[in-house]
Amino acid sequence: MNDAPSDQQTLLPLDRELVLELVRVTEAGAIAASALSGRGDETAADQAAVGAMRAAFDLLPVDGTVVIGEGERDHAPMLYVGEKLGAARGTGPEVDIAVDPLEGTTITAKAGANALSVLAIAGKGCLLRAPDIYMEKIAIGPGYAEGIVGLDKSVEENIAAVAAAKGVEPADIMVCVLDRPRHAELIGKLRAIGCGIQLLPDGDIAGVIATSDPETAIDLYMGSGGAPEGVLAAAALRCVGGQFEGRLMFRNQDERRRAQECGITDFDRIYRLEDLARGDCIFAATGVTDGSMLEGVRRLRRKDGTGMVSTESVVMRASTGTIRWLRAEHRVD
Ligand code: FBP
Repeated sequence: MNDAPSDQQTLLPLDRELVLELVRVTEAGAIAASALSGRGDETAADQAAVGAMRAAFDLLPVDGTVVIGEGERDHAPMLYVGEKLGAARGTGPEVDIAVDPLEGTTITAKAGANALSVLAIAGKGCLLRAPDIYMEKIAIGPGYAEGIVGLDKSVEENIAAVAAAKGVEPADIMVCVLDRPRHAELIGKLRAIGCGIQLLPDGDIAGVIATSDPETAIDLYMGSGGAPEGVLAAAALRCVGGQFEGRLMFRNQDERRRAQECGITDFDRIYRLEDLARGDCIFAATGVTDGSMLEGVRRLRRKDGTGMVSTESVVMRASTGTIRWLRAEHRVD
């Protein structure tokens, strides 16, 4: 999407049958990564998810290109940016793929909560090819007037706007923030207002999605996290509704160069949902470890003695807004 605007063709609704096919891919990633939960090895857990998803991708009836993946080809043997995937290469629908095989590598290594296997697809040229650098983010769920929050507003203004829209006091607002030293100032301002803060150890895709989930108390997501995670979170919000703004954060010249290689020229640009994920898109996630949104993979034995693993996933599509929660049992021997 960075350099070439998509043509009308790429904005057509995606084939609804891809919805379930996508879940098979995240299920494969989650099952593989979960086998290494609590083993203290982030790389091994990530690689297990990558290998399993890579194999599952080749059964997908699409002609896909990875735009958000494991990094550049030189550093990633599989699911690298630019890699072609899918069983319908040259014939099938051309799609962009954003994949985070293991969102929460550290969580998984420590058997903590909320690790996910995540994937989004959209028409060719419809997902932003974002470099793996930080992105400043703000997100709210659906039902608010357009533009009531934004990165160019102060923390106090954003909280006051959401509180006014909800008809509550600013101190009644709950904000989700990654627990990082770089967020000390933001957290200090929120504490001064009296807001509730849910501090996440990791995993800001789930943090952004939580703003749209009526079952959570989270009103806003604020703070910086990975830019690739920003694109995946935006794809999810396109499906469930909500508002998002993201701005790339550059710490050095090398990061600017990497952004330029992705076709990004305006370094100060504020990206909104449609700038990150355009047209129809499908978002899928499977729990690796137990979390607030999804149960993690369980290894169980049926009464007849056969082994099975259970998975819990969510999959959603922007063009219809349908959200499916799927629990699956997979026979393993
Ligand atoms: P990984 O699974 O790649 O470790 O990402 C976890 C995560 O918490 C993301 O959800 C978030 O966007 C990013 O890391 C934040 O980066 P950092 O840990 O450097 O603050």
